[in-house]
Amino acid sequence: MSELIQNAAPVPRHVAIIMDGNGRWAEARGLRRIAGHRRGADAVRTAVRGCQDLGVRCLTIYAFSSENWKRPAVEIEYLMGLLRLYIESEIEELHSANVKLRFIGNRTQLQDDIVALIGQAEALTIKNTGLALSVAMNYGGRDEIVRACQRIATKVELGEMTPVELNEDRFAEELETFGLPDPDLLIRTSGEQRLSNFLLWQLAYAELVFIDTLWPDFTLDTLRGAIAEYQSRDRRYGASSA
Ligand code: IPE
Ligand code: IPE
Ligand code: MG
Repeated sequence: MSELIQNAAPVPRHVAIIMDGNGRWAEARGLRRIAGHRRGADAVRTAVRGCQDLGVRCLTIYAFSSENWKRPAVEIEYLMGLLRLYIESEIEELHSANVKLRFIGNRTQLQDDIVALIGQAEALTIKNTGLALSVAMNYGGRDEIVRACQRIATKVELGEMTPVELNEDRFAEELETFGLPDPDLLIRTSGEQRLSNFLLWQLAYAELVFIDTLWPDFTLDTLRGAIAEYQSRDRRYGASSA
């Protein structure tokens, strides 16, 4: 992986991150998995600041998947507590840094106080024009697509649109990422090389960068390395190579 960001090459407009490896980070130190999640929350701050400093416009982070309910109840409760803590402790600073917060994922299964908290955070920052930070919480790409289909079907049923009016742009408007450009770069930490149901529609043409670093060890240099790798890629979108 090349080390230096090339000044002339564009930074990705939208970076998506699968923040993976918290449990392994803790287990390697003889700690409980939740210790890894706590350190992982610090790495989120690093990623947010790094994107702001490097001129990335949008950052979308995978915090809790629709499949993570399979984990032990204590771990789930700890992750929910961390989300509360993150919002409560960071919201003022994020707001003053002009960050626009959005939460994607199915809210109907989240606890009422969390739904209220994320709603308040979104409302407070809705007019901000800096980094668009999207947090995927109880998010699943297939679930998002199915819910978009349900909304479209309802509109057709109500006579608000016809099936032939549906196209890719119109479909994307029904996704929770509406208004954001598709991610240019997907980073997954911890060495795993899969999408785990993240942004299935939106990642269609993203450059995928898999790195061995465990999420709690993610630093500004890790981010710079991933962006340098992105800049070395030739994005062809189906056209022939130059
Ligand atoms: C990522 O770390 C955090 C969440 C999925 C919430 P993991 O908890 O998946 O850590 P590993 O993959 O078990 O090491
Ligand atoms: C993906 O990581 C979800 C998040 C990072 C929130 P997982 O650790 O849950 O994914 P799998 O189970 O290894 O595919
Ligand atoms: Mg994992």
